[in-house]
Amino acid sequence: MPKTPEFFVGKTIVITGAASGIGRSTAQIFAREGANVVCGDIDAEGSERTANQIIQKGGKALGLACDVTKREQVDAMIQRAIEEFGSVEFQFNSAGAAGRRSTFLDIDDELWDQTFDLNAKSVYHSIQAVLPHMLDNGGGVIVNVASMSHKRGAPGSSIHYAAAKGAVVTMTLGVAREFADRGIRCLSISPGPVRTAFQEAANTSPELMERFKNDVPMKRFAEPEEIGELVLFMCSDACEYMTADTVYVNGGGGWR
Ligand SMILES: NC(=O)c1ccc[n+]([C@@H]2O[C@H](COP(=O)([O-])OP(=O)(O)OC[C@H]3O[C@@H](n4cnc5c(N)ncnc54)[C@H](O)[C@@H]3O)[C@@H](O)[C@H]2O)c1
Repeated sequence: MPKTPEFFVGKTIVITGAASGIGRSTAQIFAREGANVVCGDIDAEGSERTANQIIQKGGKALGLACDVTKREQVDAMIQRAIEEFGSVEFQFNSAGAAGRRSTFLDIDDELWDQTFDLNAKSVYHSIQAVLPHMLDNGGGVIVNVASMSHKRGAPGSSIHYAAAKGAVVTMTLGVAREFADRGIRCLSISPGPVRTAFQEAANTSPELMERFKNDVPMKRFAEPEEIGELVLFMCSDACEYMTADTVYVNGGGGWR
């Protein structure tokens, strides 16, 4: 929660991956706090649906089609957000996916490149698109979604994905430190397993799902809003000395 009531009212957040899961929940949480929410997703219908749900509840939102692997589409999304709401104070980069599960020796260049384009290069595009505007504005907060897998390496199923999320953690650290004295904070969140469409998209087997769950000390997946509330705190004035780090939200740890 923010330190100042109404802190988010009239401020704008751009959220990628806002059609589903963590991105959608975070959009709803920021709308609850009175923020303007720009929802971007490759699933254009889904991002419009999230925006319309916010508008129907009396909030302000814009749903846009945006493939985060395409720099020009990310640039256009940020420009559109500024045109609509005047400024962008926060960016939440949630779009991402594990791609196909694969043992290390079966990862091919296509899977490796797709996974890095979607999970790491996209974040680099997004940050470059919004930073000049935030610097002109005197500041802003960028939150990226990494994964607990960056710490574990995801042996046997997703080393390509874990490595891409490791790049997100390192990029976040570097951007935070490069711009720390110019009003910019940049943080990442490294969730354990979260109950969203993500596992289905990665064709996670029922056995692997059980393994994920059983290895979490709390014995359950996170709910997407349990990540979204942290994004709200990170962007708020209750969190002004925090930057560069990744925060683990994982029910006590998981998959050794
Ligand atoms: N769910 C988990 O267990 C888990 C764990 C750790 C990290 N994460 C990370 O959390 C983030 C959000 O995932 P989620 O769990 O909400 O999954 P999700 O599948 O519910 O949502 C991901 C969203 O990203 C969108 N997307 C995919 N490719 C895109 C592209 N090229 N351009 C724009 N949007 C695109 C999808 O359409 C979808 O709406 C991802 O970065 C994921 O890697 C998820």
